[in-house]
Amino acid sequence: MDLLRTHLLLSSHLLKLGHDLRQALPSKLQIETKQNRLDLVTNIDKTVEQNLVAYLQKHFAAEKIISEEGYGTTVEDLSGYVWTIDPIDGTMNFITQKNSFGILVSLYKDGCGLLGYIYEVMTDRLYYAIHNYGAYCNGHQLQAPANLALTKGLLISDERLIKKASPAFLKVAEETLGIRSYGSATCETLSIIKGEAVAYLNCSTQPWDIAPALVFAAELDLVCTQMSGQAFNLLGENKIIFATPKAHTPLQEVALYL
Ligand code: IPD
Ligand code: CA
Ligand code: CA
Repeated sequence: MDLLRTHLLLSSHLLKLGHDLRQALPSKLQIETKQNRLDLVTNIDKTVEQNLVAYLQKHFAAEKIISEEGYGTTVEDLSGYVWTIDPIDGTMNFITQKNSFGILVSLYKDGCGLLGYIYEVMTDRLYYAIHNYGAYCNGHQLQAPANLALTKGLLISDERLIKKASPAFLKVAEETLGIRSYGSATCETLSIIKGEAVAYLNCSTQPWDIAPALVFAAELDLVCTQMSGQAFNLLGENKIIFATPKAHTPLQEVALYL
């Protein structure tokens, strides 16, 4: 596969999809509940995923697609090319704010991240990382964030860890410059990628939430592991630490107690 050609095609398709989505926003959303009242899906999540699956299959003969809403394929191993899709990341933000959500796509080959897309739809900012070519926002190359320690920056966390408020979490939070939670992996991982925060903790991510950010991590000298210390698992749920190298080390030491 020609990676740069794939990128050119896919990035223009994503921008078109984002344009159409913004146009469709005034229409009334059809909202359904999945596992509980906080776990929602809309007609737009489904339409965007169907669109992307069809696009990847038509243009890149995609055979393995790990996606959230069930229009992808069954993927049992990571051999060959594997795509991930989160059609609307931050669905609760999408429904309640019509903002602070994203479209997430990535491509892996034999477990190695090749392409990562984090698309902030409302600002029309398309962040992408290409294996060995660097990371960009709308064509402008991103620099690796400063390698700041935990004490020198903000900590981003998913709200489950904040609500649980374990002693270990509160102690770690105390050491930082403050805690933030944005309700979408899109905004949360971009905070680390842009150097606005030093670490992101999430105790329940699916592959489609984080797979794109891992491609950025490799290009920008950031670290993303499971809280257990193991490498990220693209086939299952992960509790993750995504951070600067200096902030990652102390978090890894306490992660099992969070
Ligand atoms: C969720 C959001 C949320 C994060 C969860 C994700 P969804 O994605 O990114 O911020 O804490 O882990 O599942 O369900 O809105 O696509
Ligand atoms: Ca989603
Ligand atoms: Ca998500």
